[in-house]
Amino acid sequence: MSADYQVHGDVAVITLNNPPVNGMGLETRRALVAGIAQAQADAAVKAVVITGHGKAFSGGADVREFGSPKAFQEPNLLSVISCVENCNKPVVAAMHTVVMGGGLELALGCHYRVCAPGTSISMPEVKLGLIPGAGGTQRLPRALGVEPAMNMIVSGEAIKSDMLSMLPGQKLFDQMAMSPQSLMDEAIAYAREVADVRPLPKLRDLPCKHPMGDAYFQFSRNMVKGMAKNYPAPPKAVDAVEMATKKKFDDGMMYEREQFINLMWTPESRALRHLFGAQRAASKIADVPSDTPVRDIKLVAVIGAGTMGGGIAMNFLNAGIAVKMLETKQEALDRGVATIQKNYEDRVKKGKLKEEKAAQRMALLSTTLSYDDIKDADLVIEAVFEDMGVKEAVFKQLDAVMKPGAILASNTSTLDLNKIAHFTKRPQDVVGLHFFSPANVMKLLEVVRGKDTAKDVLATAMDVAKKIKKIAVLSGVCDGFIGNRMIDQYGRQAGFLLDEGCTPAQVDRAIEKFGWAMGPFRMSDLAGNDIGWSIRKRQYAENPTRRYSKTADLLCEQGRFGQKTGAGWYDYKPGKRDAIPNKDVEAMIAKHRESLGIKPRKISDEEIVQRLNFALVNEAAHILEEGIASKASDIDMVYISGYGFPIFRGGPMNYADELGLFNVVQAMQRFATNPHDDAEFWKPAPLLAKLAAEGKTFN
Ligand code: NAI
Repeated sequence: MSADYQVHGDVAVITLNNPPVNGMGLETRRALVAGIAQAQADAAVKAVVITGHGKAFSGGADVREFGSPKAFQEPNLLSVISCVENCNKPVVAAMHTVVMGGGLELALGCHYRVCAPGTSISMPEVKLGLIPGAGGTQRLPRALGVEPAMNMIVSGEAIKSDMLSMLPGQKLFDQMAMSPQSLMDEAIAYAREVADVRPLPKLRDLPCKHPMGDAYFQFSRNMVKGMAKNYPAPPKAVDAVEMATKKKFDDGMMYEREQFINLMWTPESRALRHLFGAQRAASKIADVPSDTPVRDIKLVAVIGAGTMGGGIAMNFLNAGIAVKMLETKQEALDRGVATIQKNYEDRVKKGKLKEEKAAQRMALLSTTLSYDDIKDADLVIEAVFEDMGVKEAVFKQLDAVMKPGAILASNTSTLDLNKIAHFTKRPQDVVGLHFFSPANVMKLLEVVRGKDTAKDVLATAMDVAKKIKKIAVLSGVCDGFIGNRMIDQYGRQAGFLLDEGCTPAQVDRAIEKFGWAMGPFRMSDLAGNDIGWSIRKRQYAENPTRRYSKTADLLCEQGRFGQKTGAGWYDYKPGKRDAIPNKDVEAMIAKHRESLGIKPRKISDEEIVQRLNFALVNEAAHILEEGIASKASDIDMVYISGYGFPIFRGGPMNYADELGLFNVVQAMQRFATNPHDDAEFWKPAPLLAKLAAEGKTFN
C-alpha cells in the first residue's frame, strides 16, 4: 500500500506514502480510494484528513508512470478526486512542504484545506507542455481568483503558501497552521470542528468571474502568445481558465480534459516529457550502483587561472566549497582573481547577488604558486593550456604531491584522457570534467570516463556536479567527446553550405528559425573562430584527406576571430553583440566558391536545417554505437544544455525519432549524391541504418 490509514479518535488520517514526493501513482491512488471507503464505512469516523509522508504533501503525477498505461488506469486522478469530493464526511487536506500539480488538484477536491507556512504551491504542467488535467484550471480560479490562478497555471512557477494566503478573498486555505510541526494537530482539530457541517463545501459550487471579462482574457492571450512562441500549452491554459468563467463546472472540466489529451499528443509535450526523464536518467550510470559511496569533497584545487579555471572556480565558490587556484606566475593568479572579483561585483551591481554573499564567496578563494599548498585538496581540476606536454608536467607533479584518494580531473576538450591518466600512477583517480565556456554559466558538464576511472570517482563526479548545479552527462574518451565531436560535423556542413551558395546569414537565419538559439556562424563568432582553426589544423595534420570548407581558415587568416576582435563572419559594433553581415566576407566566400569551380545554387531552408541537424544525428549514432554515450537521451541533454538546441524539439535524437529514422536515412542518401558534400560521411551509421530498417527509434 502506498498510503497509510490511521484513526485518531473520530478522525481518519490518510497519509500518502510514495517516496520521494508522494507522486500519485496507481498504488497510491488505489490506497487513497480505499482509505476514503474505509472512513465512510466506519460510523465512528466523523471526518477525514489527507496528508503526505516526509518531504511533500504530493508532487503530483508519479513520473515513473510517464508513458506507461498505469498512468491512466482506474482509479485515475480524476476518479480519485471525484471520490474525495463526493465523500459524505468532510475531507480536509493537510498541506505541507510541496504541493504540486496533481497533488494540488487533489487538495482542491477536498472540502477544506489547512496549510503549513512555507509550503511551495504550484501547477507546473506547462513545463511539460501540458495543462492541469484533473480540474486544476477549473477549481484553482474558484479558490484563488481568476488572475492569480491564471498566473500560476500559465507560468508553472511555485509560490509560497504565505504569499497566497494574503490574497484578498482567497479560498485556497481555510486555515494556515502555526508551524509545519503543528500542522497535523491543527488539521485534525479543524476536521473535528467542521465534522457536522452540511452541505459539504465544494469549490466546484463557487462562482467564477473576472470583472473585466473578455477584455482580460484577450489581454492574457496576447501576453502569452508573445512569450510562449513554440509552446502550445500556455495559450490552451488561458482558454481553459476562461471556460471556468463561462461554462458550467462540468462542461469546463470536459473542456480541460479534451485540451489536456490533445496536448499530450503534441510533439512539444512529448519533447518536454522526454527531457524531464532524460535529465534524471543522465546522472545514472548503468554499472555504477546508486548507493556507491562518494568521496568527500571539501577543498578543490584549480590549476590554471585562465578563462576556464576562473569560471570553474566560481562554480565551487558559489556552492560554498573552498577553492585554491594554482598558477605558474603571480601575475596570472592576480589576473584570474581580479576576473572573478569583477564578475561578482557586476552581479552585485545588477542586483543579482548581495554584497555580503559576494564577499563570503571571495573569502573561500585562495591562491598559490606551489603544489605543496594544494596537496590536501580532495579534488583537483586542471585547466592549463591545451598541450599534452604541459598537461604531462602538471599531472606528474600532482601524482607526486596529492594525498591518496584525491580525485585528479582534467578539463581538456580534445586530448586523450587515458594518456593523461597514465602520466600518474593512479589512473583510477583520474577523470575528465569537461566544462563549457563560460564555465560559471553553462549548465552542461561532460564527465569523461577513462578506461581505468574508478566507479566511486564517477559517482563522486556526478554528485559534485549536482552540488554545483550542473547537468552532468557521462562520455567516453574520443576526440571532442560527445558534444564537440558532433558539432564538428555540423560545422563542416555549415562550411559546405557556404561553398555551395549560402551566405552565413542565410544559414544562421534558417537554423534559428528552426529553433536553435544561435546559428553556426554566430556561435563560432561568439566562441572565437581561432579555436576551431587550431582544431582544424590538428585534425588536418592527423588526417590530410579529411574534406572541409576552407572558408573558415581564410576568415581566420584575416584575423577575423569573432566578437572578441569586433569582426568574424559578421561585424560587431564595440560593446554590442548584434551580428552585422559583411560584404567583404561574402565576397571572400564567393571567390573561394569560384576557385572550387562550384556554380552557386539556391539552397532551401529545409535543406539547410536537415543537413545541419542530420550531421549531428549521424555522428551521434556512431557515438552511441561506440559506447562513447551510454544512451540517446544523454546526447539530447548535451545538446539542450550545452549547445542551444531547441528545447521544444527535445534534442537531436528525439527530433530524429519524431521525424522517423526511415525519413532521416532517405534524406542522408540524397545528400550523399551531392558532389560537393562528403558522401562517405552521409553513409548512415550502422546503428541508424539498423533502427531505421526495423522501424525503431533511438530513445
Ligand atoms: P587559457 O589560456 O585562458 O588559460 C590557461 C591558464 O593556464 C593560463 O592562465 C596559464 O597561465 C595557465 N597555465 C599554463 N600552464 C600552466 C602550468 N603548468 N601550471 C599552472 N598554470 C598553467 O585557456 P582556457 O581557455 O582556460 O583553457 C584551459 C583548458 O580548458 C584547456 O585544456 C582547454 O582545452 C579547456 N577548455 C577550454 C574551453 C574554452 O572555451 N576556452 C572549453 C572547454 C575546455
